[in-house]
Amino acid sequence: MSQSKGNESGAEPLAREHFRLTLDGMDHIVPIAAGETLLQAALTAGIDAPHSCTQGRCGSCMSWLRSGEVSMASTKALSKRKIERGYVLACQALPWSPEPIWLDFDL
Ligand code: FES
Repeated sequence: MSQSKGNESGAEPLAREHFRLTLDGMDHIVPIAAGETLLQAALTAGIDAPHSCTQGRCGSCMSWLRSGEVSMASTKALSKRKIERGYVLACQALPWSPEPIWLDFDL
């Protein structure tokens, strides 16, 4: 079990990291492996995060990125305006920056 203290060097991609997730008024610290989407990591951690298609099409995993940055392979279910406001699709979201990620499903 890795208990790394974060990316002090800031040089390496997010291999093993954690992110903060808010759902139904509860905060969770979710471990995430390299290449995992935020949704995959949440489900692996036993968090019943909203989702359906997992393909970026239905929008049921739409959530708000309160901090950090993600990359998304597909944003089909998001309008440009929602993207500008910081909404993401958790099923498509891969950590993209060393900044702490906070994903909020309580829209
Ligand atoms: S689960 Fe359908 S868009 Fe993410």
